Amino acid sequence: MNYLWSGRFSKQLHDLAKRFTFSIEIDKRLALFDVAGSIVHAMMLMKQKIISESEGKKIISGLKQIRKEIKSDTFVFKADDEDIHTAVERRLVELIGPTGGKLHTARSRNDQIVFDEKLYLKQILPDILGAITIFQKTMVTKAERSLGIFLPAFTHLQPAQPVLLSHYLLAYVSMLERDKKRIKDALTRTNISPLGACACVGTSFPVDPEYVAKKLGFDGVFNNSIDAVSDRDFILETVCCLGILMVHLSRMAEDLILWHSPLIGFVDLPEEFCTGSSIMPQKKNPDVLELIRGRTSAVIGNITGIFSLMKGLPLSYNRDIQEDKRFLFETCEISYLSIVIITKIIEKTEVNPSRMSQTCRLGYIEATDIAEFLARKGIPFRQAHHMVGKLVEEAEKKGILLKDLKESTIKKITGCSDAVDFIRQLDFEKSINLKASHGGTSIGEVKKELKRWKNILN
Ligand code: ARG
Repeated sequence: MNYLWSGRFSKQLHDLAKRFTFSIEIDKRLALFDVAGSIVHAMMLMKQKIISESEGKKIISGLKQIRKEIKSDTFVFKADDEDIHTAVERRLVELIGPTGGKLHTARSRNDQIVFDEKLYLKQILPDILGAITIFQKTMVTKAERSLGIFLPAFTHLQPAQPVLLSHYLLAYVSMLERDKKRIKDALTRTNISPLGACACVGTSFPVDPEYVAKKLGFDGVFNNSIDAVSDRDFILETVCCLGILMVHLSRMAEDLILWHSPLIGFVDLPEEFCTGSSIMPQKKNPDVLELIRGRTSAVIGNITGIFSLMKGLPLSYNRDIQEDKRFLFETCEISYLSIVIITKIIEKTEVNPSRMSQTCRLGYIEATDIAEFLARKGIPFRQAHHMVGKLVEEAEKKGILLKDLKESTIKKITGCSDAVDFIRQLDFEKSINLKASHGGTSIGEVKKELKRWKNILN
């Protein structure tokens, strides 16, 4: 068998070496990007008179035929196709004869693979960004409809203070906004074309890298050919950005999993995204969310994978780098699917407002409000905190709410007669509206946030 590179070889590649080095199974999904890049490369070769017009046209029509075959799933990959570039070139020569061999003039697989990967990212990252925006809009709509619903906010998974459900939901909108910014920023560096760097030092042909870059919507071209073929920073940072996104989704999955447990009962997850148990007929398990949480570990593993791959590699291209794709593709695919799926789950999840408000009665979550009231009356906060701690101790001993403590007990512990009325009249809505500080949970602040998000997202 002749490979692209086998001119100087007299022995066949060992079957084991072949199995070990071929990457076609993974880089297959770059097929359309490889063809798109090749068409523009051929146009450039033709424009620069590196190949003749008739050769260029022949090559381009062959590539368009290949594109059709890929799109209609009739492209046949062969056992000796080493990678996607080899497969496309092999088919091109089958279709148009030896002229097909001119396509690779002034190009190397080293600059070509970076180009393909960048085209892949130029498509999937905007898809992920779009999916995040849909997620955010879904959350904002939910938040707007949840303004009357309150629940305990947690710290250490212990009831902390009452909060509007809307405020809780908008926290995820803020988190994912940062993800969008990070991804957009990573895209600016991804959007630099490496084509024209060739194997690593450029080429003796009069190429026009700017032309190729412009045709495929890149913002600019490389400045150093060695860097262009060696650089995988754009993959390192993309995988990191998506890793942070997945950590966010995983935390959200965890919130929903807990909230769906009958022990908490804040939400009822949609049946379409739950599965049952083979033995326990009553079960409605949050498996899809558990898998979002679970696959986050694959993404975190991929961050470690790609970093260890690149660490210590000498310049410029080394075959190790071929392995970058398994980390990149898996990360992008998990991230895209997870964000789309979690949005659907949010859309269809039923909340249980009465269960949420009932649980506000657990754990004395109005205690901080009382301490702050006493502090406003001039008692040093540390002392006020201690006094309310004593009130909680008393109430807990008696198994009653703070508002049911005797007037005399409150007065004795706090030394403040106004505290009695404040405690008696304190309800959760009032507690929430006391948090009118910037970015707090008062209805006024949350409405401001809602307005701000609607402006940003529309
Ligand atoms: N399949 C290779 C990769 O994905 C393409 C570059 C191969 N270059 C080489 N000199 N063997 O990285």
